[in-house]
Amino acid sequence: MLQVSRLASSIKPSATLAAAARAKQLQASGVRIRDFSLGEPDFPTPEHVCEAARRAMAAGKTRYTQASGTPELRGAVAKLYGESYGLSVTPEQVLISNGAKHSLHNALAGAISPGDEVIIPTPYWVSYSDLVAMTGGVPVLVPTSMQSGFRLTPEALKAAITPRTRMLLLNAPSNPTGAVYTKAQLEAIARVVLDTGISVLSDEIYERLMFDGREPVCFATLHPDLPGRTITVSGVSKTYAMTGWRIGWSVAPVALAKAMGNIQSQQTSNPCSISQAAALAAITGEQGCVESMRAVFQQRRDLVCRLLNAVPGIRCPVPDGAFYAFFNIEGLYGKAPGGRKISDSASFCDAALEDAHVCLVPGSAFGAEGFARLSFATSNEEIESGVSQLAAWLSKG
Ligand SMILES: Cc1ncc(COP(=O)(O)O)c(C=O)c1O
Repeated sequence: MLQVSRLASSIKPSATLAAAARAKQLQASGVRIRDFSLGEPDFPTPEHVCEAARRAMAAGKTRYTQASGTPELRGAVAKLYGESYGLSVTPEQVLISNGAKHSLHNALAGAISPGDEVIIPTPYWVSYSDLVAMTGGVPVLVPTSMQSGFRLTPEALKAAITPRTRMLLLNAPSNPTGAVYTKAQLEAIARVVLDTGISVLSDEIYERLMFDGREPVCFATLHPDLPGRTITVSGVSKTYAMTGWRIGWSVAPVALAKAMGNIQSQQTSNPCSISQAAALAAITGEQGCVESMRAVFQQRRDLVCRLLNAVPGIRCPVPDGAFYAFFNIEGLYGKAPGGRKISDSASFCDAALEDAHVCLVPGSAFGAEGFARLSFATSNEEIESGVSQLAAWLSKG
């Protein structure tokens, strides 16, 4: 009999995709579901980006490119870091991959050996612990609290570091909490990193989706010694509504970028040539579309927080970036509005889906019990209807 390997059987399917699949199943049976499970901008990819892809196809850019990405795109990403953050990056430090998730996997595969510990502040993005485990690394989860704005403190980081610690996986703005750090808060973390000699994998995929005038801080810029021990990951998926094009990148010290590129060359070869041309147009073209989408997300953030905080038993902190509301539901424990008892985040989300026809993701999937995540990458009408369905359902219990 063909057996599933030990590695494959240890990997969980993505919880967000599982929630979306159940919602689709109900929808197929004729139930209208308000789906807030997926972290995907609902805007179309900007037209000038699509046009660049059409031009690339017409020009015959339909063949293999260099495995690490086209020189044009690697050069443009390097230049972007200079222009946006004053960070000096050479094209050799840039590896273009099939989405930021692939970049994270390459980074972990390139820098983590079996038994190495990787510190992950919780709540964390669903894929981090499985990605670490896939490389043989050991995820070390360090809780943060709603009271501290879901930010890792330097004290908590220091306390979690052991002789086996190799890396801190940092994500700001955060999925699922939307937490953002001030420059001073990141500098305090950077001091611990430099004092202890660990490295950092900084997932900055939501860097352009910040609210209330906040400016992004690129972690590697905070000290001249940080670029030598930091891998920065980002991409076009969220900023330019390009989730399906699958282009992400990493910026790493040259030797590591080369090693990661070797892994990619054996595993997937180059990312799609046409998508690379589109990503080049996205980051070098007009940037007005980014601000237009960001402004809409900010309005939706305000709407969703106002509506959720008006529901008795729900407490929704205001996210500073990304497009998720991560709200506390402990005030609902013990209730059974539609007959199903709410006793934790999974039972809340199951009941919300079956009884209120609202699809959310339980906090437990992000390593944080007592919360649920609502993605507001959807229309105002959907948000208003979804939260009002939740409120009507909860008022019965
Ligand atoms: C924190 C975080 N990192 C990485 C990714 C992956 O991005 P991509 O679609 O480019 O692989 C996501 C997508 O949801 C994310 O939320």
